[in-house]
Amino acid sequence: MGILYYRITYGFGEEVVAHGEKQAKSQPFKGHESRQGRGVVSRRNNQARAHLENWLEVLKQYVTNVDEEIQYHLQMHWVGKHEVQVQTLIKTLTFNVICSLLFGIERGPKREKLLPPFQDMIEGLLAIPINLPFTQFSRGIVARKKLVPMVIDLIREKREAIEERKQTGPHKDLITSLLSIRDEDNLPTMSDEEIIDNIIAVMIAGYDTTSVLVTFLVRLLATDGSIYSAIAREQEEITKNKALGEALTWEDLTNMKYTWRVASEMLRISPPVILSFRRTVQDIEYGGYIIPKGWQVMVSQSMTHMDNSIFENPTMFNPTRFEKKTPSPPPYSFVPFGAGLRICPGIELAKMETLAMMHHLVTKFTWVLLNKDEPFKRIPFPEFDKGLLVQIMPIKGTYAI
Ligand code: HEM
Repeated sequence: MGILYYRITYGFGEEVVAHGEKQAKSQPFKGHESRQGRGVVSRRNNQARAHLENWLEVLKQYVTNVDEEIQYHLQMHWVGKHEVQVQTLIKTLTFNVICSLLFGIERGPKREKLLPPFQDMIEGLLAIPINLPFTQFSRGIVARKKLVPMVIDLIREKREAIEERKQTGPHKDLITSLLSIRDEDNLPTMSDEEIIDNIIAVMIAGYDTTSVLVTFLVRLLATDGSIYSAIAREQEEITKNKALGEALTWEDLTNMKYTWRVASEMLRISPPVILSFRRTVQDIEYGGYIIPKGWQVMVSQSMTHMDNSIFENPTMFNPTRFEKKTPSPPPYSFVPFGAGLRICPGIELAKMETLAMMHHLVTKFTWVLLNKDEPFKRIPFPEFDKGLLVQIMPIKGTYAI
């Protein structure tokens, strides 16, 4: 159904397909084919997927840019406030990071104009697909119609910059990078329509996911004193060697091992994405059942993560599962980012954002939940009723006070 929404609302390509080789229980995704059509990884555009992967990998060098976006965001939306809606704000922050790093859209009116139609489009994507006036679905379609011309303008600007050779330096934004892919005859391999689809897909894929993870971590830290203290200790160690306001480096992130173990356990217990889809390309026999060729298979991350034959005491929040000395979970059983050829290409960016955001939050503020039992709905991403309302207190000696 999700794929159907994508197709109707956003012009995505065809469904995902999986090789039908028999798999061990812990390796349900081994060997994937790609999505047909025009998505990030369309069969025709495997090159684009490879490009995106490499490109996201290069982002490691841009920790400073992510850090700068976070520090600016905290100054604007957290400093001087008593109460904040964590999920709402972290979504905006994630959007800003994507705009800056991926699309080279600097802070200012252009970015601000992009956010409302983008948010409406996402809500439409997740709504019941009834295209009548005033339904969320139809608002989503209208929003996409507003968004596309803005992206077309961006593509035009980037193309002009390439022609005038203004785009120099190693960090090309994703649009420039996609525009630069050429075939053996030096002709562009992607049409503007394909680039638009790819850009919107990346925006969607990177928006609700990382923000959900950070929101859940903020909630956890408000309720689990021992995890909070251990993370705070680790983060303070990093701050000790820095001047006030000095940006984080990639090396700092690699020293946040405990924080990432907690984030990994959060991804296990509350994966932001709970389902992936594949289509069988040949008959498969699995668990005594035949899944015929052409069937769509739904894979559930949350069920795999709750399988007690893989994770002992699966409902217990236990970051030590990810310690080096603990045996790693078997391949394809810890799958918050999916698996196989279609694995999430944004893992490193997600990790970078999550660690940098947690660092700044923990070292600059303490917080308490204003409603300890604030409910959330999965639609399908978890959405807190009041955006996870917390009371915040600045920590003395940081710029937050
Ligand atoms: C905690 C954060 C994130 C989680 C949990 C997550 C999870 C996932 C999952 C489960 C998939 C489907 C993989 C599959 O079917 O095997 C996926 C796909 C994807 N993700 Fe992420 N993601 C995150 C962050 C990001 C970020 C920051 C970006 C980039 C801005 C991104 C870009 C993508 C793209 C482009 C795809 C589609 C790949 C394809 O179709 O081949 N993701 N993600």
